[in-house]
Amino acid sequence: MTVFGTGYLGATHAACMAELGHDVLGVDVDETKIERLRRGEVPFYEPGLPEVLLRNVESGRLRFTTDYAEAAEFADLHFIGVGTPQRTGDFAADTTYVEDVVARLSPLLERDAVLVGKSTVPVGTAVRLQGIADWHVRDGVHVEVVWNPEFLREGFAVRDTLTPDRIVVGYGEGAGPDGPRGASRSRALFDEAYAPILESDPCPVIETDLATAEMVKVSANAFLATKISFINAVSEVCEAAGADVTVLADAIGIDPRIGRKFLGAGLGFGGGCLPKDIRAFMARAGELGADQALTFLREVDSINMRRREKMIDLAEEVCGGNLIGRTVAVLGAAFKPNSDDVRDSPALNVAGMLSLKGACAVVYDPQALDNARRLFPTLAYADSALAACEGADVVLVATEWGEFVELDPDAVAAVARGRVLLDGRNCMPADRWRAAGWTYRALGRGVPGRAPTAASRTAPAELLPV
Ligand code: UDX
Repeated sequence: MTVFGTGYLGATHAACMAELGHDVLGVDVDETKIERLRRGEVPFYEPGLPEVLLRNVESGRLRFTTDYAEAAEFADLHFIGVGTPQRTGDFAADTTYVEDVVARLSPLLERDAVLVGKSTVPVGTAVRLQGIADWHVRDGVHVEVVWNPEFLREGFAVRDTLTPDRIVVGYGEGAGPDGPRGASRSRALFDEAYAPILESDPCPVIETDLATAEMVKVSANAFLATKISFINAVSEVCEAAGADVTVLADAIGIDPRIGRKFLGAGLGFGGGCLPKDIRAFMARAGELGADQALTFLREVDSINMRRREKMIDLAEEVCGGNLIGRTVAVLGAAFKPNSDDVRDSPALNVAGMLSLKGACAVVYDPQALDNARRLFPTLAYADSALAACEGADVVLVATEWGEFVELDPDAVAAVARGRVLLDGRNCMPADRWRAAGWTYRALGRGVPGRAPTAASRTAPAELLPV
């Protein structure tokens, strides 16, 4: 098989498929990336992936190329895992990279092939890609497009790929066993690819049509985003009422219908998937004439973006109303721990806004410093958490890396100027820091001993009992 695209999704899929015993050719247009992968180097940080990649490159089961003709000749099964970023100046997804793969590969195919889309795409894309393939293929060659969304999480990508919790696959019309020539063949090839996973650790396999398979992925991400924004909206009310959102989340999360996962209140979601996927989902619903159905996602988006501003308000408050000339240690740059991904990272966004407000933001992240420097070259960076805290008036935790959670408050106090800890992820041991003499403040948690604000205690006149 081949895997087109060698980003977080494609490189992981290629290496894991080789790990399962398949012969895999990874394909990308980026020559430098391919060179590094050929040497067995992963061009980004993903725990566990370097070992799997190296093992399979060395065994010869996994190779990499930029040559589409070589890819066409090599395999009958072609996975597509290239990016679908948000279009500039628009909510919709940019599907040109997936289209390019199909348009370039199809005319080079000399025998029947199956193209398996894994990228997150707007519903209807697979049918369009089938059209592009049909237009470009040579006479007598049959290409079938199927859709197999990927649910892997960065930081757990290898585990999620080798032991998925479900496999979803959408086939085109007439893809039953009695369907056209290519259809039953695509099923056979697809099943063969995933057989090692299903034999060793079975999981539900959901076979459906193309549109449903495409929509499963965006719906899953929209649900996760909604869940996070729900708790962050509640967190805003907690702030006004002097309540504690973390206790509240524990309490409601015990109900199995709700569940505690993804009720982590704080700086909200970022990354290369959730923000752009909810926007693309709204855009696509609009194109389909169902825009009203997803208007709530606008609110989900706004609640999420508001958390970043709220963090700045909190920083301003603890600095006496003005950030000019203050030094803030920003611990974290990646959009989440165990990743070096800084795409739409709330942490970096906050660092940038602090700097715009006149503060000196000194950023440290265990893995994402290089990417952060490239994106925000004008921010100050440090090589360790303690170095970032040196002379800081405020220490702000923006990504919940384990090494930040374990920081020794006394060691930080020995280098920092101020004694204020802002916990943007509700991950720090508040009691420990308070006991060490720190002022601990977090999003969605009242200040002990401080009553709710006057405004929040006074009910609007129309709600008072008559
Ligand atoms: C997500 C989906 O989880 C995955 O299934 C899909 O394939 C790709 O998109 P990922 O972007 O790797 O994966 O990150 P995820 O773990 O979902 O976290 C997304 C963001 O939400 C992060 O910024 C994280 O910090 C934030 N988050 C998560 C919260 O703010 N609170 C939570 O409780 C959970």
